Amino acid sequence: MLSIFEESKKYMPGGVNSPVRAFKDVNVEPPVIKRGEGAYIFDEDGNKYIDFVGAWGPMILGHCDEDVVKAIKENCESAIAFGAPTELELKLAKHMCSTLDNIEMIRMVNSGTEATMSAVRLARGYTGKSKIIKFAGCYHGHFDGFLVSAGSGVMTEGIPGSAGVPKESIQNTLIANYNDIENIREVFKKYGSDVAGVIIEPVAGNMGVIPAEEEFLEVLSRLCKQYGSLLIFDEVMSGFRVAYKGAQSLYKVKPDLVTYAKIMGGGLPCGAYGGRREIMEMLSPLGPVYQAGTMSGNPVVMAAGLATLTKLYNNPKYYEHLEVLGEKLEKGVLHISKEKGIPITVNRRGAMLTIFFTELEKVRNYEDAKTCNTKLFARFFEHMLKGGINIAPSQFEALFINVKHSEEDIESFLQVMREFQI
Ligand SMILES: Cc1ncc(COP(=O)(O)O)c(C=O)c1O
Repeated sequence: MLSIFEESKKYMPGGVNSPVRAFKDVNVEPPVIKRGEGAYIFDEDGNKYIDFVGAWGPMILGHCDEDVVKAIKENCESAIAFGAPTELELKLAKHMCSTLDNIEMIRMVNSGTEATMSAVRLARGYTGKSKIIKFAGCYHGHFDGFLVSAGSGVMTEGIPGSAGVPKESIQNTLIANYNDIENIREVFKKYGSDVAGVIIEPVAGNMGVIPAEEEFLEVLSRLCKQYGSLLIFDEVMSGFRVAYKGAQSLYKVKPDLVTYAKIMGGGLPCGAYGGRREIMEMLSPLGPVYQAGTMSGNPVVMAAGLATLTKLYNNPKYYEHLEVLGEKLEKGVLHISKEKGIPITVNRRGAMLTIFFTELEKVRNYEDAKTCNTKLFARFFEHMLKGGINIAPSQFEALFINVKHSEEDIESFLQVMREFQI
């Protein structure tokens, strides 16, 4: 009899609905997950894993958090979808606008990809310019215009972009180097007058975790102002993760637009983009920039998102807990790597961390990340999975801690790592 995953391959390309789930780079068959509870997930064969993937970020409250489940259950009894205004979407919009910085108005969508591609359209509509600058190694979803030098699965699989993306679609996408002040100055000098916006992960997670440097962001922000370009922070991953108010709260720089997804939907398909009122009012039906969605603002999703964000907002101690565990993990990993002579660098912001298998002391950009020994990572990954520790199956992803993780879970991670034979 075929395993569930083998049978899935007959009906879904690669057996998956998103490529990275197929574990292609680590040559391991992915476990088929049946159930999640708090910090743990369980596969169809009955194996238990301590989960450091958390659905690629959203499950910061742990799997099936009681308040999120309650909100979903209560609301789906009477409101699944209307495609009409609801009070729930107002509540979530109001909550986000009042608890986040630099968000005066917001538009709900259904994924991170939708949020970023729509924010870019809005930046173009607002400025009347065409070009967008993105940074090598940053991933903003699978929209045509972003599939150049992208991180995440595009990076792991060594795809220079993607087949099916006509060159016309990327001719207005400029690539700059992350954390490279000289380079961004040059790009603006050459193309600045036609740059509608710059999109950046202020704490990058898709070439592994690489935080932007303060001075770099300050220069970037000044250049945007000087040339009349919008600064778009893609906080799809870092929003509500590195801090409740996201990566922007770690820096002095103020973005014009911000994109969210992952945590804000409480594990349901969701995204949003928001920013200054005068920019957001350019959106249809008020303004000329069209963007729409049958499922946008779906009541069940709004309920899950609201339950998640309210719980996070009301419990600042969660972020203290995440910081304590993050530091314990970071220190433990570095200690073990020294003991065992494994060349490793760790980058971390709060509950988001990457263990880079590199000889470099610092990983500051895409070129640095590419020095990693991906074969060694693949062996490490397999070892950890067999030891019941679920981490992302790629060197160029983040590891996420959730509020249900305990000190013992971090100890278990470190114990399994200690047994890794290099
Ligand atoms: C920073 C960032 N932006 C955008 C996206 C795309 O989001 P989605 O997969 O929900 O389309 C991702 C997904 O990982 C992301 O990490």
